[in-house]
Amino acid sequence: MSAISTPDELLAVAIRVAREAAATARQMRAEAIGDVQTKSTDTDVVTAADKAVERQVVDALLTERPGDGVLGEEYGDSVTVDPGAVRWILDPIDGTVNYLYGLPQYAVSLAAERDGVVVAGVVVNAATGDEWTATLGGGAWRAGRRLTGSSRRTLDQTLVGTGFGYDARRRAHQGAVLARLITRVRDIRRLGAAALDLCLVAEGTLDAYFEKGLNLWDHAAGGLIASEAGLTVSGLAGAPAGRSMLVAAPPAIFPALHDVLVELDAAGGP
Ligand code: IPD
Repeated sequence: MSAISTPDELLAVAIRVAREAAATARQMRAEAIGDVQTKSTDTDVVTAADKAVERQVVDALLTERPGDGVLGEEYGDSVTVDPGAVRWILDPIDGTVNYLYGLPQYAVSLAAERDGVVVAGVVVNAATGDEWTATLGGGAWRAGRRLTGSSRRTLDQTLVGTGFGYDARRRAHQGAVLARLITRVRDIRRLGAAALDLCLVAEGTLDAYFEKGLNLWDHAAGGLIASEAGLTVSGLAGAPAGRSMLVAAPPAIFPALHDVLVELDAAGGP
């Protein structure tokens, strides 16, 4: 079993491993660029990169910390971790459709969780190298700057990020919610990578974000970064953030956004 480490020590491991993973993702895309544009096997490029990046991260983590568990989007859950042990939560490429098209919004997201609580997290935009980090109680950071979210105070001035699931029936419901939400807010953005959306909210580049249907690997690292930036990160009606809903907003905006999402049944539908 690995020695239990402090959140700062876990973050240092996460940053090193995530940077190497981001380099692999970037390199695989650069090498496959001709295929991406001309072949009918576009999605295979993404799948191969997802798997290669995930394998690299899992190997690096389990070599360095053999007693830890890993939950990865492609890999699944490696082991049931002992109480107090560390479980790593990985999305090897969040924003896979952006990766496929070459839109520079795709990221490696890696978090360290202990006893069900995320204690450290890093998100690396693999296209640009931009990097956001947080430790539980230690704040959220980008390039040496502590993040504090947006100072916006009213819903009608709020720029809201969101995303869609892959299931068409779910998308129909999500689209119907947005059709009514868009008249109540400044505007809506769909950038295509939940982990990066959460980092943008943490730094105040977006004012708020919500999405139904996220998996733990989409929001584990970004959710810690947003909450350590002082944002409220939650589900609806006091539920924790999770598959049925995740809302991240400054405390001044959260109640109004929460209430309109309840009114529009944003957590409902398939
Ligand atoms: C997706 C992205 C997207 C969000 C979807 C996620 P993936 O993750 O984060 O922004 O709207 O819900 O599934 O498939 O690119 O790893």
